[in-house]
Amino acid sequence: MGFGTQRSCSVLVTFFVIYTCLCLANSAKNTQNVKWRKQQRSCNLYEGNWVFDFSYPLYDSQSCPHIRKEFDCQKYGRPDDFYLKYRWQPKECDLPRFDGQDFLRRLHGKKIMFIGDSVSLNQWQSLMCLLHAAVPNSKTIEQSNESLSITTFQDYGVSVMLFNSHYLVDIEEEQEVGRVLKLDSLKNGDIWKDIDVLVFNTWLWWYRRGPSQPWDYIEDGNKVLKDMDRMVAFRKALTTWAKWVDRDVDPTKTKVIFQGISPSHYNGKDWGEPGVKNCSKETEPFSGSTYPSGLPQAAYVVNDVLATIQNPVHLLNITALSQLRKDAHPSSYNAFKGMDCTHWCVAGLPDTWNQLLYAALISN
Ligand SMILES: *[C@@H]1O[C@H](CO)[C@@H](O)[C@H](O)[C@H]1NC(C)=O
Ligand SMILES: *[C@@H]1O[C@H](CO)[C@@H](O)[C@H](O)[C@H]1NC(C)=O
Ligand SMILES: *[C@@H]1O[C@H](CO)[C@@H](O)[C@H](O)[C@H]1NC(C)=O
Repeated sequence: MGFGTQRSCSVLVTFFVIYTCLCLANSAKNTQNVKWRKQQRSCNLYEGNWVFDFSYPLYDSQSCPHIRKEFDCQKYGRPDDFYLKYRWQPKECDLPRFDGQDFLRRLHGKKIMFIGDSVSLNQWQSLMCLLHAAVPNSKTIEQSNESLSITTFQDYGVSVMLFNSHYLVDIEEEQEVGRVLKLDSLKNGDIWKDIDVLVFNTWLWWYRRGPSQPWDYIEDGNKVLKDMDRMVAFRKALTTWAKWVDRDVDPTKTKVIFQGISPSHYNGKDWGEPGVKNCSKETEPFSGSTYPSGLPQAAYVVNDVLATIQNPVHLLNITALSQLRKDAHPSSYNAFKGMDCTHWCVAGLPDTWNQLLYAALISN
């Protein structure tokens, strides 16, 4: 056999191998999706463990335009990168891989809004990076003011919005009283109810005291108080929100998602290392799937309140899986050098939250 024949033969073989691989990959993808649809009815996506996966992260944070300086850990010198390489593996099925184009096509002509504190900002930012990585050349329009940021993907007619609200319920300035946190009042609901997908979150601010507490009094029913039990206040505000969901949201038009409590890592006792006072030395997740401290009390309040809602509400139950990620915070790798074991690096854990959000949106 001459060299030429051998070569064309190997070219043929190569083609055949590539072709077969492509077909197999395609059908594997289809079977995987079908399998996933079948499984997910019984599969709890929030129960599982973190596995090391070299194919992660889902995008390079350097190619994501304007990550906030609070979250851009690699840019601010974080030396390790293992925290980027963990994939959430549910116990009984696989999480569908995030498909940004599919996400945008499904939401064609629609609006999705994150409503809450800086944890919502954290997740919104991750979604921006995921979508930008999927459609880097898609034209976007960005608008923002202090209460609302909107990025519109023009080719898809999709708006991804962030509404800044620390407590969901209102804070109002009252003459001769001051700033009043009103546990029974949710005026912004009139804006939110016209959006197609709503992703709520509130928790971080409920225990704020001193100068960073953004209210002077708290109104509970017809009582105006200087302060009250914060967990009780949280429950009451959440109940106001729950009643609003049943009263004002049209479930045929709007999908409501509530994001579970995002945990922080300032207390090593929580993960079995008493004496540790922050996340600065953490480079690996907690191993195993049962976190020593158990769920935070606020997560039980969320469960209780969600159980009272008649309309469908999906709990994006990220609490337990995020508790395991003591390694995923910025710590001092942000523009302020301040110790932050509350928010999360982008790229990083919030990408998984968005994968779970995507799974929740495509499951019906
Ligand atoms: C959220 O997920 C955790 C871990 O799987 C579980 O223990 C908890 O019960 C879940 N909460 C709800 C309301 O399903
Ligand atoms: C922010 O922008 C939105 C939409 O453009 C607008 O409805 C709202 O009144 C603005 N809020 C402030 C505080 O300027
Ligand atoms: C973080 O914890 C380390 C050791 O646990 C300690 O040395 C350091 O002072 C802490 N940093 C801050 C800012 O709390």
